[in-house]
Amino acid sequence: MSEQASSDSAPALPSKAVSNGAPPRFDLPIPDRADVITDNVLKLAEATPNPRLRFIFQTLIKYLHGLVNETDLTTDEWMAAIQFLTRVGQMCTPLRQEMILLSDVLGVSALVDSLNNPVEGNATENTVLGPFYTDDTVHIANGEGIASEGKGEYMYVEGQVLTTEGGPIPGAIIDTWESDSDGFYDTQYSNRSHPDCRGRLRSADDGSFGFRAIVPVAYPIPGDGPVGELLLTMNRHNMRPNHLHMMVEAPGYHKLVTAFYPEGCKFIQSDSVFGVKKSLVVKLEQIDDDDEARKRGFPAGASFKLMRLKIVMLTNEQFKSYRAKNAKSKETV
Ligand code: BEZ
Ligand code: FE
Repeated sequence: MSEQASSDSAPALPSKAVSNGAPPRFDLPIPDRADVITDNVLKLAEATPNPRLRFIFQTLIKYLHGLVNETDLTTDEWMAAIQFLTRVGQMCTPLRQEMILLSDVLGVSALVDSLNNPVEGNATENTVLGPFYTDDTVHIANGEGIASEGKGEYMYVEGQVLTTEGGPIPGAIIDTWESDSDGFYDTQYSNRSHPDCRGRLRSADDGSFGFRAIVPVAYPIPGDGPVGELLLTMNRHNMRPNHLHMMVEAPGYHKLVTAFYPEGCKFIQSDSVFGVKKSLVVKLEQIDDDDEARKRGFPAGASFKLMRLKIVMLTNEQFKSYRAKNAKSKETV
């Protein structure tokens, strides 16, 4: 008879140890040589009923075993890798996603994003969303501000949401967010009482939009966990170049997740998460005109920087056909 487990975390045992029910499908050669181990694992993956998953598992096994073989991985090195991944998992909380950060610094997030959002024509390019987007934001009208006074140097953002043919897209929902000039997003402050340096607005009938913001600054991604240690082990910095995030949605159009990078930042060609694209690097104009600054609603007047944007969206149909055209394997879609 089974006994209730004594520890709170250990689940109660069933009365008898049982298999998961999947039948033995193949009689495999006894794996007494390294290459037979790889062949056997690949053979077993053939039984995966879902063809897409079968393809992914087989490829994963091929590359993972390839890594072990090519590097002659030692037992100690594999154990160190397992301990590292364990710490990455243990660092995760509802507010801290160290696993995504690992994917970010290894370029996997950017690679998945690039492959899923192929560059086509004049459409605005996608880039990594990052961990600081939140639905809890401030709804603003065109011309209003997203940042409270004192959060950074003045910047005005103005632009138009357009089709690939240059027609206006009215009513597009534009979400935007950035760090403050100390390099922190509002959600990183434990005493956050309201959204700051983030806002949501709609494009006008002619597709135009405009809002007050602050000049983005470069900032470090979290460096106090195992991913931070990994970067130091590789002698890599943990900085992101200055940027303003934007997510744009409109009915019938493919959702755009992007960011704009003012030129001239010293980290622009070594972004720790590989999110920069040439087409997303923008020039900021310096406007030294007190009247103009006050007209745009900057309380201290004097001067501001101007970021001009053209946001070109793909229709859902355009997006689907580009993605199918760029797919590398039959199993991709
Ligand atoms: C960000 O830009 O907010 C970001 C992206 C990836 C990892 C960390 C931060
Ligand atoms: Fe960011």
